[in-house]
Amino acid sequence: MLLQLTSLETMYVIGGTSSLTVAEDISKKLKQPLARTTIKRFPDDEWYVRVLDDIKGEDVLIVQTTYPDTKIIELLLLQDAVYEAGANKIIIVIPYFGYCRQDKKFETGESISARAIAEHISLHADYVITVDPHKDYLLDFFNVPAISCSAVSEIANYLKMKEINFVLAPDKGAKKTAKEAGNIIGCEYDYMDKTRIDANTVEIKPKKLEARNKNVALIDDIISTGGTMAKSIKELKKQGARKTLVACTHGLFIDGAKEKLYSNGCDEIISTDTIENEFSKVKVAPVVIDALVRDKII
Ligand code: R5P
Repeated sequence: MLLQLTSLETMYVIGGTSSLTVAEDISKKLKQPLARTTIKRFPDDEWYVRVLDDIKGEDVLIVQTTYPDTKIIELLLLQDAVYEAGANKIIIVIPYFGYCRQDKKFETGESISARAIAEHISLHADYVITVDPHKDYLLDFFNVPAISCSAVSEIANYLKMKEINFVLAPDKGAKKTAKEAGNIIGCEYDYMDKTRIDANTVEIKPKKLEARNKNVALIDDIISTGGTMAKSIKELKKQGARKTLVACTHGLFIDGAKEKLYSNGCDEIISTDTIENEFSKVKVAPVVIDALVRDKII
């Protein structure tokens, strides 16, 4: 449910090329102008950005998912352009915060990539908001106030139309998400025991689930290679699940994820539009706006 806006001064919304739909949705819902921009590539692939509207003294909200990594450069340039043009408040909406999974040093000598990116984004930002960050402490990497919002309620509302009677998280990290979705849908939830072997391989320990003859929704923050979900579907099918649907906030769908999911018996793939793809059935603009209003950022 959208919170009531009180008095919103003019605020320009700028959509980077990875988040045009979310930017348009935010602009429409808030009835605020979508700034005119020129965003293109030089022949050597470097970005060129220009904001065409006069935004001097105005509040500006830039929307850009930082994935794939070239979009980070585009975002930094948009921020610089807005800063140079003399904008007042600069709010950065990052629907999917790329590099979020390298959020610590897993081995000595590694970079904390998520922190490195966050620090650069903080340079010309007054506030940052992101959707379903992989870990809550990612917000602390920004040097400006950073908040998050969750798309789980929107995903669960979509799943309500699908006669789901069991929600499953593929690992313990997503247990809270499964619980929240289960509560909204009004059904039981559980989680599986997953061990990640490497970036492409996971192991799911067999576990007795109450899945026989049920329509099961598997829910996670990210689907990347689809390996986690595919293995979970296999286990569910072994245990007699009727239908299996997979849902995530951030759908990267790389390395043949779609084929992997369908060939293992997935009935439907659902993601939000934080990363725009053919499965973006759930919009995140409403939860982003709710959070910005709730925290009095706009
Ligand atoms: C990891 O902790 C995440 O929540 C996802 O489970 C993971 O990113 C999924 O990756 P993949 O689709 O490659 O198995």
